[in-house]
Amino acid sequence: MTVLSKPEAGDLDYDPLDPAVKHEPYPYYVELRRNEPVKWLPGLQAWGVARYDDIDMLLKDGRTFSSGQFWPALLGEYDPVPEEPPMISMDPPGHMQLRRIANKAFVPSKVNGLKDRTYEIANSLIDDILAKHGPEGEFDFAWEFTALYPVTVVAEVLGVPTERRAEFKYWVDDVLSAANRAAYGPEKLRKIEESSKRMRDFFEDLYDERIQNLGDDLLSTFIQTEVDGQKLTRNQVLSMACLLLIGGVETTTNLLGTTLIELNRHRDVFDRVLADHGLIPAVLEEVLRYNPPVQIIFRHTTAEVEIAGTTIPAGAAVMPILASANRDESKFDNPEIFDIDRKIEVPLMSFGQGPHFCLGNYLSRMEAKSALEVVFSRFSLIEPVSDDVHWLDSYFARGPHVLPVRFKVR
Ligand code: HEM
Repeated sequence: MTVLSKPEAGDLDYDPLDPAVKHEPYPYYVELRRNEPVKWLPGLQAWGVARYDDIDMLLKDGRTFSSGQFWPALLGEYDPVPEEPPMISMDPPGHMQLRRIANKAFVPSKVNGLKDRTYEIANSLIDDILAKHGPEGEFDFAWEFTALYPVTVVAEVLGVPTERRAEFKYWVDDVLSAANRAAYGPEKLRKIEESSKRMRDFFEDLYDERIQNLGDDLLSTFIQTEVDGQKLTRNQVLSMACLLLIGGVETTTNLLGTTLIELNRHRDVFDRVLADHGLIPAVLEEVLRYNPPVQIIFRHTTAEVEIAGTTIPAGAAVMPILASANRDESKFDNPEIFDIDRKIEVPLMSFGQGPHFCLGNYLSRMEAKSALEVVFSRFSLIEPVSDDVHWLDSYFARGPHVLPVRFKVR
């Protein structure tokens, strides 16, 4: 593993594709907010936006900053349902119709109904780990726990067999890796294409099965619900299912992995949390602020627009850097410090803002809290074996690629 030295702020040239930036982007964000809050990024042919207020403004203005190109830009020809954009890639008014349906399934009262299952899922994954590795030793927290846990929860929400969760996880990883498609050779691209097709085929089969035999799962809800007197089309249901799988898996996986990394880096906080699990929500909020799973999202301008004195032409790609907004000095005191006791006075940008604000924000917080409660209850020791982190090779998703940990069961 290559360990890169941490750059200092000052005269840093932000290029999201640079391995040093992907490893430790935060000093670059300081520099951007200070000196170049709107920056042309030639490697991505897009404008990066770094300050909180500018990002807040643009995410709330869906007419000037369209989401229409989000999915095509992210997945290209590897979108499992290219005929029908998912709601994350739609503008008003179409977006609102789908969002109203989906909201019903994600309100806190519904999500809380899953809480007991999240504890069971976390416990059963730990049973598997103990059965495989014995009462103490080492395992890869990133794969054996954090990767499998959210995919099992989302599978449960969608009403699909949890036995297929590992397969699901591979498809999601492959499809999401299409974001880096320009850098891949034919073999990797074939794999992405196959995973995209399998995901689609899986939901096609499930649709056929469910339409004959409706249940109280989410897919059945989408099949039955009417918007303005019209049912969702088959492709709209498929597109929604793929979006939930793609949006709900890697994000929560990365939140859990990064939380263990930040706790290991801040041992005083780790000790407090181990002694008092009631602090877990505060830890999660601070990790979401300080080192969030989604660093950057995508928009396109529908008209020429000025941000922080820079003119951006119509039809340009814009990348709000959410992770930079979360450390904006004008909104957060001592933003570069990890502090679970901080008073947060403005909404975090970690789940976006405006009409596309993350549908799964309540679910992911609940899931992550259950998972950490179980992990800290079952293990008397759980800590990364090394302080060096092998981060994902991505400029928009942040989390550990692997996370070997030492553990001891209670
Ligand atoms: C820590 C975990 C998560 C993070 C950091 C996260 C982050 C985000 C962000 C930044 C957006 C806004 C995208 C935009 O404005 O273009 C978003 C939207 C979305 N997220 Fe999440 N997400 C998480 C978990 C989940 C989960 C668990 C689900 C569902 C199972 C989910 C489903 C969605 C959906 C469907 C949207 C699109 C909403 C819309 O277009 O109206 N997310 N998420």
